[in-house]
Amino acid sequence: MWIYLNDRFVEQDKARVSVLDHGFLYGDGVYETLRAYDGRIFMLRQHVERLERSAQMIGLRLPLKRSDWSPLLAEALRRNSLTDAYLRLTVSRGEGAIGLDPALCPTPTLVILAQPLPTYPARYYDEGVRLIISQTRRNLAEALSPQIKSLNFLNNILAKREATAAKAFDAVMLNHAGHVAECTTSNLFLVRQGRLCTPGTDCGILDGITRNVVLHLAGLRQMQTEEGAYTPDDLLAAEECFLTNTTMEIMPVRSVNDHPIGGGKPGPITQALHHAFHARLPEFLQSEQGSLD
Ligand code: PDD
Repeated sequence: MWIYLNDRFVEQDKARVSVLDHGFLYGDGVYETLRAYDGRIFMLRQHVERLERSAQMIGLRLPLKRSDWSPLLAEALRRNSLTDAYLRLTVSRGEGAIGLDPALCPTPTLVILAQPLPTYPARYYDEGVRLIISQTRRNLAEALSPQIKSLNFLNNILAKREATAAKAFDAVMLNHAGHVAECTTSNLFLVRQGRLCTPGTDCGILDGITRNVVLHLAGLRQMQTEEGAYTPDDLLAAEECFLTNTTMEIMPVRSVNDHPIGGGKPGPITQALHHAFHARLPEFLQSEQGSLD
């Protein structure tokens, strides 16, 4: 496995980051997860823009210009002989003396990973996955904005531990007001009275790129959509429910807290969006070098 570390590609066993890196010591840094389909990257510009936003929100200077990402990601795929891949961009505050002040770290650390895509069993897509509602609330946006895709993922990890203990696929996190926010690494959609609903960004969620694609596809199909605040009871009463993120695309949900959702298979709106996603996927893929300028 070839890994891009700071300014060059190195073999995995040579890819080492300092124990004094503030990403390791304090979770101080940001990241993005991307997906390549047949060598082309899904919503590349949007992912790079979100990385830039996350970095800007924590006052971190990214070590690359916008136009540098595309050729580097292409090279990461080529070196690892991958076409369908999981890609992760990580930028930490860098190495520095103990202490919280970012000024202690003059140079950020950059890592680009390209790995084979982890696949989910087909039955998850055919039958849907089981969720629980976690006791762990999503971070208060005023404390740590979920719009920063940060290396500090403990809030979500605690919820994921609850899901794992309950043998569920994932956990739905509520916000401080008790409204549905999102799952640990995905956004959540529900269908209520035939309308496609998803928690608004003011519920304290990451504004997922796949979420935006799904809302766009729903608009093209003239589906009624709504971004709002939903209670756990709204979720349990939903006609359909699904999750979205870059690696899983659209994942149907079959139960929440063992309460069945829909009729035991993905509902018509979930299926229509799943088909639309695949039919229009080429429009969302970017490959040309320098296309982000
Ligand atoms: N997770 N919400 C959270 C908390 C996330 O971490 C993610 C992405 C999403 C969905 O965002 P997108 O559609 O842009 O992938 C929502 C990625 C996959 C991860 O952490 O690896």
